[in-house]
Amino acid sequence: MTTIERRESKIRIRPMEPEDIDSILAIDRKITGVRRAITYTDLITGDLGGALDLSFVAEANGEVAGFILARRTYVGEPVTEVGLIQILGVDPDYWHQGIASKLVNALLDTCQSKQLNAVRIMVNERDSQLQGLFQRLGFRRGKLIDYTKTFES
Ligand SMILES: CC(C)(COP(=O)(O)OP(=O)(O)OC[C@H]1O[C@@H](n2cnc3c(N)ncnc32)[C@H](O)[C@@H]1OP(=O)(O)O)[C@@H](O)C(=O)NCCC(=O)NCCS
Repeated sequence: MTTIERRESKIRIRPMEPEDIDSILAIDRKITGVRRAITYTDLITGDLGGALDLSFVAEANGEVAGFILARRTYVGEPVTEVGLIQILGVDPDYWHQGIASKLVNALLDTCQSKQLNAVRIMVNERDSQLQGLFQRLGFRRGKLIDYTKTFES
């Protein structure tokens, strides 16, 4: 299959199922091989046992090519219920075809229909590409900053 044919591949967004774990972990491995990212294997494994109502996968030509893992949480000041994006990952062979944008938009539609107040993601301040993607999808930088206490192992 050529790249051009892939760009025309039909993308289908559907709710994530526990059976998607192997495909998701395969994409995760592919991403971490391409670019140094956090290891989120445990997070995915843990989450797939729980509620998946805010998580989606993207299929391209019937294969899982991307996923978004999100959950409801109460955060901020004042505390409000929001949808929090934990992980967004797309198979590097399918980058720049709008798959991440479709996944985020599916999440936004779902959160809006569930009457959540907002959708939030933590983004590295140096990752201008990811920031650009979310800016284009209508996200705006908030006023919260992250404080972390790291434990020595
Ligand atoms: C970040 C990530 C999810 C983006 O996935 P993606 O499917 O390539 O994202 P999109 O295609 O929706 O958007 C990416 C770019 O492609 C462009 N694009 C979208 N459709 C396109 C098309 N048909 N043709 C060309 N470009 C297109 C978008 O405008 C966007 O431009 P930008 O990079 O300048 O912002 C993916 O690169 C990834 O998995 N990265 C590693 C993991 C990671 O960093 N995850 C986020 C933190 S949890």
